[in-house]
Amino acid sequence: MILTDAQLRDFDEQGYLFLPGCFTAEEVGILRDEARRIYASDRPEVWRETSGAPRTAFAAHTYNEAFRILGRHPRLIGPVEQLFGEKLYMHQFKVNAKAAFDGEVWQWHQDYGTWARDDGMPEPRAMNIAVFLDEVMPINGPLMLIPKSHRQGVLPAGHDTRTTSYPLWTLDHDTVTRLAAEGGIVAPTGKPGGVLMFHGNLVHGSAGNITPYGRTIVYLTLCAVSNHIRKPTRPEWIAHRDFTPIEPLSDDALAQYARKREERTAA
Ligand code: SIN
Ligand code: MN
Repeated sequence: MILTDAQLRDFDEQGYLFLPGCFTAEEVGILRDEARRIYASDRPEVWRETSGAPRTAFAAHTYNEAFRILGRHPRLIGPVEQLFGEKLYMHQFKVNAKAAFDGEVWQWHQDYGTWARDDGMPEPRAMNIAVFLDEVMPINGPLMLIPKSHRQGVLPAGHDTRTTSYPLWTLDHDTVTRLAAEGGIVAPTGKPGGVLMFHGNLVHGSAGNITPYGRTIVYLTLCAVSNHIRKPTRPEWIAHRDFTPIEPLSDDALAQYARKREERTAA
């Protein structure tokens, strides 16, 4: 997948791009099934909300075949490689549940703030590209973004280790109020299979989910290889140390895997 000039301009101005319908129902279906299996397992990489509901599963591309394929999918690698103009490695990989009734808040933050402070990443030449596995609606804790905030550089932040089970460098109310007055707040919504990419410095967060509708989103954090992290402080499965350039698979790799799985189950 290659971005058009208009999409590149849009990304540059707004700091994000939403691309609906990038993955088919068959492709999303297998990922959703595998996410459920991972959440039901007892692994240190699966972090839970205070209720015990799953919050995020780290590094699923290292222990699950469907997510391994997604981590090398040309529809995700292509646009980010195009933007950075060089090969990429996987800095982080997470499957966020935002579970029905129990999914808790992600406070306002910039991802690069954490990658710089906790992992020693030199530049904001890494970004998230996210795949919606459930329908993301205005009511089930969609990701909220402050357009144009990626132009602010790294903003001062405090280390919040208490609000949720996941420590995060978060922004204060005055900063968020000022940025929202300038750029507004948007919450891209859409069917499963949509893809959202956003700049490492774009301010974002999400509210809790008290609806019966889960909101699973997979986030690949792709980093330019020359920008690899220098001073990691977090476990390997949160901030990866394998800087091998990703070689994309064929466009139908996930669909083929889904069909093979189906045949095996039917046999
Ligand atoms: C994140 O900011 O890394 C995740 C937020 C979310 O999934 O709502
Ligand atoms: Mn984030």
